[in-house]
Amino acid sequence: MENDKYKVLFVCLGNICRSPSAEAAFKACGTRAMEEQVEIDSAGIIGYHAGEGADPRMKRHASRRGYRLTSISRPVVAADFDRFDLIIGMDDQNIRDLQRKAPHGQHRAEVRRMTDFSVRFDETEVPDPYYSGADGFEYVLDLLEDACEGLLRYVEERIGEK
Ligand code: 4NP
Repeated sequence: MENDKYKVLFVCLGNICRSPSAEAAFKACGTRAMEEQVEIDSAGIIGYHAGEGADPRMKRHASRRGYRLTSISRPVVAADFDRFDLIIGMDDQNIRDLQRKAPHGQHRAEVRRMTDFSVRFDETEVPDPYYSGADGFEYVLDLLEDACEGLLRYVEERIGEK
């Protein structure tokens, strides 16, 4: 293993809207101690946008809340299931696709959905904003910021167990 950090991978379809935002929001909500103990990355189910930065609309909405989206899109690969401790999908289809991409047999990563960690919202998915208007991008950020609170507590417990 390359380091002993707890590793979290956020996954959405294209890795240009939801998962780069989740990555930035989660990095921003963590303490310095968490920063030292947790590695955070994002990836997409599809490789269509590989090598591209985040969607300019998502970047604009995120920047208004103080998040700078710097990630470059890449597809999920089988090795991610042994590299990461926690892989977090955004919607039902992401979870099905992750289960399909997971190597057969045992692997390290636990696969969860982002809304499992929601505190105030009662949604089961972070909806795809790609074909939506401004409201869709704002709602993605609302859901992600809320779920990051629950996720932070969860990760802090996991780090404590390490
Ligand atoms: P994301 O949004 O999964 O949140 O990054 C999308 C980005 C691209 C596409 C769909 C959703 N696409 O069809 O290219």
